[in-house]
Amino acid sequence: MKSIIYVTRQLDESIVAPLRENHEVIQCDIHNITGTPIEEALQYGDRVVALWTALSDQVTSEVMDALPNLKVVANMAVGYNNIDIAAANERGITVTNTPGVLSDTTADLAFGLLMSTARRLPQAEKSLRAGEWSTWEPFGYAGMDIHGASIGIIGMGRIGEALARRAYGFDMDISYHNRTRKEEAEKKYDLTYRSLEDLLKTCQFIAIFAPLTEETNGLLGREELALLRPDAIVINAARGEIIDEDALYDVLKEGKIFGAGLDVYSQEPIDPNHKLLTLPNVVALPHIGSASIATRTKMAEMNVEAILAVLNGETPENIVQ
Ligand code: DGY
Repeated sequence: MKSIIYVTRQLDESIVAPLRENHEVIQCDIHNITGTPIEEALQYGDRVVALWTALSDQVTSEVMDALPNLKVVANMAVGYNNIDIAAANERGITVTNTPGVLSDTTADLAFGLLMSTARRLPQAEKSLRAGEWSTWEPFGYAGMDIHGASIGIIGMGRIGEALARRAYGFDMDISYHNRTRKEEAEKKYDLTYRSLEDLLKTCQFIAIFAPLTEETNGLLGREELALLRPDAIVINAARGEIIDEDALYDVLKEGKIFGAGLDVYSQEPIDPNHKLLTLPNVVALPHIGSASIATRTKMAEMNVEAILAVLNGETPENIVQ
């Protein structure tokens, strides 16, 4: 029996075909399973040599132990907080991700979300469709300017820098906070480095692009959110857990900030009845940062290359350690 490459989603045959050469490829039919895609994979036990995962697939040490011949986990995302990397290292399992190709696409989305939230585009569109646009009103649908406003970017990695590039083009006054200083980016985009506290107090737009780690989990809690300006707009296209959602709800509900644009949540998919979704000053998207056809195709190709490299005894690009 051939060993198995288990893909936790269904992809076009043209993408997965190269994987079939020496292995059986099983693609999870996610809409017709009772448990999780990973639970489905577990039934193939020692036949599974490779797992193709999405960011909602939790690959724990228990999962690795239940798949004793697992050699590679290829995560179709840049973030890899869904995988226990230490456990993979201990077991000699290679973990790969898909950085780089999605930076501009994710920054495009984040900037779109920023503009939508500031100018209240979804609310205006919904109102028009509902037949509520009855006349021109001096302050009808009025929102916040983007050009010339201040923005504080938390996390100046590849996506943070791509966002800075867009903000620079909009004449924004850009600050950032990061574990390390990024001097080249500072010069290129006229960035000001600030402590987190200073950035939260000073900047109108706050955009999060940090990875989810022990240090960033809950980074924007109640105390931090209390520092924000009354006209603040929070944009999160990184990971939901970085913001305390209850505290965010409270500041939004009480009108202590202007709004929030969210592409990510601590629980995904977010419950459609979640209290954050009851607020008119929230623009909410279903985690689509990297979702352009071209970028998702490149990410899928990177996963194919990574899996084949490991199974052929070669070193893949983009190993996560
Ligand atoms: C990632 O790659 O980590 C993104 O969140 C996916 O859109």
